[in-house]
Amino acid sequence: MGSTVIRNGTIVTADLTYEADLLIEDGRIAAIGTGLTGDETLDASGCYVMPGGIDPHTHLEMPFMGTHSTDDFGSGTRAALAGGTTMVVDFALPSPGQSLLDALKVWHNKSGQAACDYSYHMAVTWWDRQVFDEMETVVREHGITTFKHFMAYKGALMVNDDELFASFRRCAELGAIPLVHAENGDVVAELQAKLLAEGNTGPEAHAYSRPSSVEGEATNRAIMIADMAGVPLYVVHVSCEEAHEAIRRAKMLGKRVWGEPLIQHLTLDESEYAHPDWDHAARRVMSPPFRDKRHQDSLWAGLASGTLSVVATDHCAFTTEQKRNGVGDFTKIPNGTGGLEDRMPMLWTHGVVTGRITMNEFVAVTSTNAAKILNCYPRKGAILVGADADIVVWDPEKTKTITAGSQVSAIDYNVFEGQQVKGLPRYVLSRGHVSVMDGELHAREGHGAFVARPPQGPVNRALSSWKALTAPRPVERTGIPASGV
Ligand code: URP
Ligand code: ZN
Ligand code: ZN
Ligand code: ZN
Repeated sequence: MGSTVIRNGTIVTADLTYEADLLIEDGRIAAIGTGLTGDETLDASGCYVMPGGIDPHTHLEMPFMGTHSTDDFGSGTRAALAGGTTMVVDFALPSPGQSLLDALKVWHNKSGQAACDYSYHMAVTWWDRQVFDEMETVVREHGITTFKHFMAYKGALMVNDDELFASFRRCAELGAIPLVHAENGDVVAELQAKLLAEGNTGPEAHAYSRPSSVEGEATNRAIMIADMAGVPLYVVHVSCEEAHEAIRRAKMLGKRVWGEPLIQHLTLDESEYAHPDWDHAARRVMSPPFRDKRHQDSLWAGLASGTLSVVATDHCAFTTEQKRNGVGDFTKIPNGTGGLEDRMPMLWTHGVVTGRITMNEFVAVTSTNAAKILNCYPRKGAILVGADADIVVWDPEKTKTITAGSQVSAIDYNVFEGQQVKGLPRYVLSRGHVSVMDGELHAREGHGAFVARPPQGPVNRALSSWKALTAPRPVERTGIPASGV
């Protein structure tokens, strides 16, 4: 691969904005400065040169609810690149009883087509000695240092509190980070049965069965369990004020908790489920569901204040045909929505253009914070000499109307259909490979590489020191009375 210079742009990172050119050699940033020359020149006049996006939450070709999500590592990572995202973190998902290492092999077999770099979280969907032992291998030999726990999906992926506590403690020992899907799965199962019995069978009942208090309760519970286990916690798809409030309060008490809102919850609301067209409503069924608009203000405030840390998509894209599995019974509609291609333009349009967040905060929540939390910074998420050349050259004047007809994702609709966005990639580089050229996709199948991540990141280390210092210990006494026997 020859060298490339990105010239005439303004570099925007999580903490700095400045004019400079970039030289890229062998897939990495080789120099930052002026007057740089290379074999190929990309003109970034009028553009912002930012670290490529990292989506820390995707489900590509995920086996779920009797089917598989339709975007796989090929179409999913192409969609990511088209929207300025240069790394995705997917979930290796053992079925209950399956070895974690077997699940990992399955995921490695799926990811060969990836056009951008990727990593995995490992899901803990059941618990016994084998899982306890394999977690160590997953961390030490495979560089997967984050473990996902579903507190919902009872009878399928859900784990109970005793299993959560055991797994969280194991994460603490290994220097890993637990993630939670926080919804009270027992309550959801009861509400689903009640709603169906009462004749509430349509997609709107999906939202009725998962009120925000179900999420707030589980978020509080997970935070307390993580605190008792002495481990940091990452809460995925935070959709409501109750969950955000729990995270905010925990942070103010010194607990190490991160919250991840999705671009869908930031920009779409529950009125989608009242749409008269069944398909329209079912296409938007995901967990947690879209909320009343007041929750959006809370999520945006969290991004601006730093109480919420990263914006993801939870990209889990099912076709209309797949969604129709749930005609007559909302509990059978496959849960999940897309967004990989739209996350960055939607967040820029609704966040930066409106003044809700700064450009630097945009970089933080779309890239840098995820790299730091997941412990792959500054290889990813940074514009620094030596960092991987995962770069987006962002044109703030470029506009488009989102429509399924021209999207890269393999599904037949888009939940953001008709939205006007302002701010789109001019170039996207994946380890130096120009994957979007003048807005046109030139993704290379198989170019993506697995990113192994070391355990014991700085927050894990600090928290274990603090927990060791403040652990219960026997009181040193001057005298001990004789036993009263
Ligand atoms: O509805 C959703 N979110 N589907 C994907 C699986 C999950 O819960 O993250
Ligand atoms: Zn989830
Ligand atoms: Zn998910
Ligand atoms: Zn090339």
